[in-house]
Amino acid sequence: MARVVVATAFGGPEVLSIVDEDAGTPGEGEVRIAVRAAGVNPVDWKRYSGAMSTAAALPMRLGFEAAGVVAEAGAGAEGPAGGVAAGDEVIAYRIDGGYADEVVVPASALVPKPAAMGWEAASGLMLAGVTAFHALAATGVGAGDTVLVHAAAGGVGLMAVQLAVARGARVIGTASEGHHERLRELGAEPTTYGDDGLARRVRALAGDGVDAAIDCVGTDEAVDVSLELVADRGRIASIAAFARGRQAGIRLLGGGPGADPGTEIRKAARLELTALVAQRKLTVDTRAFARSEVADAHREGRTGHVTGKLVLVND
Ligand SMILES: NC(=O)c1ccc[n+]([C@@H]2O[C@H](COP(=O)([O-])OP(=O)(O)OC[C@H]3O[C@@H](n4cnc5c(N)ncnc54)[C@H](OP(=O)(O)O)[C@@H]3O)[C@@H](O)[C@H]2O)c1
Repeated sequence: MARVVVATAFGGPEVLSIVDEDAGTPGEGEVRIAVRAAGVNPVDWKRYSGAMSTAAALPMRLGFEAAGVVAEAGAGAEGPAGGVAAGDEVIAYRIDGGYADEVVVPASALVPKPAAMGWEAASGLMLAGVTAFHALAATGVGAGDTVLVHAAAGGVGLMAVQLAVARGARVIGTASEGHHERLRELGAEPTTYGDDGLARRVRALAGDGVDAAIDCVGTDEAVDVSLELVADRGRIASIAAFARGRQAGIRLLGGGPGADPGTEIRKAARLELTALVAQRKLTVDTRAFARSEVADAHREGRTGHVTGKLVLVND
């Protein structure tokens, strides 16, 4: 039997339970993974909050990403990097039900885990990583650009910072002061958000202006300052400000209304991300909770002030 986290109702973290369920046998093109760690993302609590929809079936399994070992492979199990077999150490994204100690998933969701990467980091790499990759591609960030990243210390933000630095861009990132040192270590120039002076603070740092902006928080401040500083609206992307962003004519990315899902670019990004990790150009900062403490992990995430990724590990 697998130990599986489910939401039994719509609501807050109190609706989460851990139940025993048969993980099932992998069919053709599927594998069963022994999960070592699962990435936690804001979408996980948004899904069972009822804010997105209350049409989803309950109980609801959670977890779009995980890392683990292939326990059993069905016939023809093949991922983007080739055949998948029992014993392979893998990262699974995008899957359903990663918050479990065992899960059956399509092999097409699996990429090899870089050997030097720990389970916790591996489990938190993909959702944030492919989102950041998509944002940089959509805004065309490259060498010589100055890019402003809003919420630079969050899960997606830290990925966007590192990917932009790896492309040779200059990065200015917003975060609360406690996270500035980490941003500096990763090659960004930090500044605080809020207090009405963000545009002025960024101008003071940027000198020659800002070429592109990536909004990872969705506040009016992030949209307004991006519009004020970036001349080309096609080089402003948001992953969260869907209503404001649509009015403003900036690029909206992901699953929100009217947004570009970037399905193919995100799929292709998975192997690019693991290659960058193997080259030591990309790391994932994590804070781990035991799976049985999933409600506490979600309470922490819902504060909106986590840096890097929350992940769940086996008890
Ligand atoms: N569209 C998509 O494809 C997509 C994909 C992934 C995520 N998302 C969404 O994008 C958002 C970010 O995701 P995430 O995983 O990066 O979340 P996260 O890790 O929870 O983000 C937390 C970060 O947000 C920062 N923050 C909080 N309030 C802020 C403000 N007013 N201004 C600037 N920064 C602020 C915090 O900085 P401090 O701690 O320093 O205050 C913290 O580091 C969520 O809404 C998520 O659902 C969308």
